[in-house]
Amino acid sequence: MRFNSVLISCLLFAFAALAVKTFTSYTGSVWENQTEGTFNYVHGIFTVPEMSSPEDMDSFATVELIFDNDGGCPSGAKFRLGVNFHVVQNGPTYIQAQYQWSPDPIQKLNIPISTGDTVQLEFISHSTSGQVFVNNLSSHQHIDMVVNSSHALCGRAAGWVIQDEINGSGKEMALANFGVVSFTHANAGTRGEILMGPLGATQVRFFGKANYYDSEGHNMSTVIVYDDGSAVITFLSN
Ligand SMILES: *[C@@H]1O[C@H](CO)[C@@H](O)[C@H](O)[C@H]1NC(C)=O
Ligand SMILES: *[C@@H]1O[C@H](CO)[C@@H](O)[C@H](O)[C@H]1NC(C)=O
Ligand SMILES: *[C@@H]1O[C@H](CO)[C@@H](O)[C@H](O)[C@H]1NC(C)=O
Ligand SMILES: *[C@@H]1O[C@H](CO)[C@@H](O)[C@H](O)[C@H]1NC(C)=O
Ligand SMILES: *[C@@H]1O[C@H](CO)[C@@H](O)[C@H](O)[C@H]1NC(C)=O
Repeated sequence: MRFNSVLISCLLFAFAALAVKTFTSYTGSVWENQTEGTFNYVHGIFTVPEMSSPEDMDSFATVELIFDNDGGCPSGAKFRLGVNFHVVQNGPTYIQAQYQWSPDPIQKLNIPISTGDTVQLEFISHSTSGQVFVNNLSSHQHIDMVVNSSHALCGRAAGWVIQDEINGSGKEMALANFGVVSFTHANAGTRGEILMGPLGATQVRFFGKANYYDSEGHNMSTVIVYDDGSAVITFLSN
């Protein structure tokens, strides 16, 4: 009996540890450490939220799809496509569509995006080239372009996340209060074949400091996923 209850606790712990974790640079739902070539495609739709600065300073957030991640590919490559927010304290919020094929620098995308717009994001990988698609679903104004890099993507990770920003000195900037962001039609896989949604992926909560004066970190988000292919990420203010 004793053996059984210990075994059961271990199994429950293992399940919980696999399903949910905290991370200091992004929050959301991510498939990671899959076999090479599991993904060549990631897609999601979200409505651009109104953001605010949680404290007396500028804050930042990027709502994005990710394809591959740190340590995933032999080349060191990873890719992200999304919308960056710079929330000026008591000022405007700058909204900029962008992609980054790391380790190459961030590239801005020339498509206007405003609060309340519904934005469709899609990335298709062909290893050292890829297709970027960003669409304002309300107006159908869109960008559809081929991008490339000498750093090969390998298709081991895909996800739907909100990431913080690191400044030129490598310092993590304050995470903007993004309220609630819902990704819908969130799917990834081998295009035309296996599609995976956020359900069953690792749910990653943002763990960080609400501002620079905090001495300790807090869980600053929750992630809830549904079997209809949606992921709801909620900012927690302390
Ligand atoms: C933060 O989130 C993790 C993962 O869900 C959880 O294990 C931990 O208990 C949370 N910490 C606090 C202080 O709520
Ligand atoms: C994926 O691998 C990395 C590096 O080994 C590890 O830190 C992470 O916890 C792994 N994630 C999962 C879901 O197994
Ligand atoms: C997106 O389309 C909607 C509907 O046409 C429009 O109101 C909105 O301004 C568009 N967004 C941008 C930034 O052009
Ligand atoms: C990307 O594609 C362009 C046009 O085909 C080519 O000139 C360039 O060398 C490629 N860059 C990389 C890094 O592969
Ligand atoms: C990064 O942020 C830190 C803390 O605010 C600041 O001291 C540093 O000068 C910033 N670096 C750059 C390059 O902006």
